[in-house]
Amino acid sequence: MDGVTVIDHPLVQHKLTFMRKKETSTAGFRRLLREISTLLCYEVTRNLEMTTERIETPIQGMDAPILEGKKLVFASILRAGNGLLEGMLDLVPAARVAHVGLYRDHETLQPVEYYFKAPEDLRDRLVIVVDPMLATANSAIAAVQMLKDRGAANLRFLCLLAAPEGVERFRAAHPDVPVYTASIDSHLNEKGYIVPGLGDAGDRMYGTK
Ligand code: URA
Repeated sequence: MDGVTVIDHPLVQHKLTFMRKKETSTAGFRRLLREISTLLCYEVTRNLEMTTERIETPIQGMDAPILEGKKLVFASILRAGNGLLEGMLDLVPAARVAHVGLYRDHETLQPVEYYFKAPEDLRDRLVIVVDPMLATANSAIAAVQMLKDRGAANLRFLCLLAAPEGVERFRAAHPDVPVYTASIDSHLNEKGYIVPGLGDAGDRMYGTK
């Protein structure tokens, strides 16, 4: 699918299988999510722009590669996005963080905004929006729009699992924002859950069910 990258690294797929299992504990789920998010972060940042810096090694000078431009922004869609955030910050500790507070009304499946806090200079930065589940895409579409309204112009969306319906809706709403995911599952069920999926990601990582 155009603009969609499925991260099929064996370690990602292996860990995802254990996250899907219903008998995986809260502690196990959280640990796996932290590990897998580091691997997903590695892939979503694979083609970042580079420049060089003149440095001196103990042996001689060289033009050494470094990331170009301002620090990245990781934008977490609360609350489940925070599960992806932690592992990503392990890998890119200098990244800036935006929090977008949206919850999904379980009746209407529509996103409801309750919090937004982001760095002011979004325009100059790559913004990687994270939420483990791209289901109906309502929250993702709204979160990206909120970030664009505050100036973000260079965005990527990273999730763990996606439903085909969600990917299609998201790409239609934001064709300029590429999607990265570990899996595109079969479909959404009538309650808005991804099938086969892994259940409610927030509940599984925080033990709230
Ligand atoms: N959100 C979740 O946590 N799980 C789903 O399956 C869909 C949305």
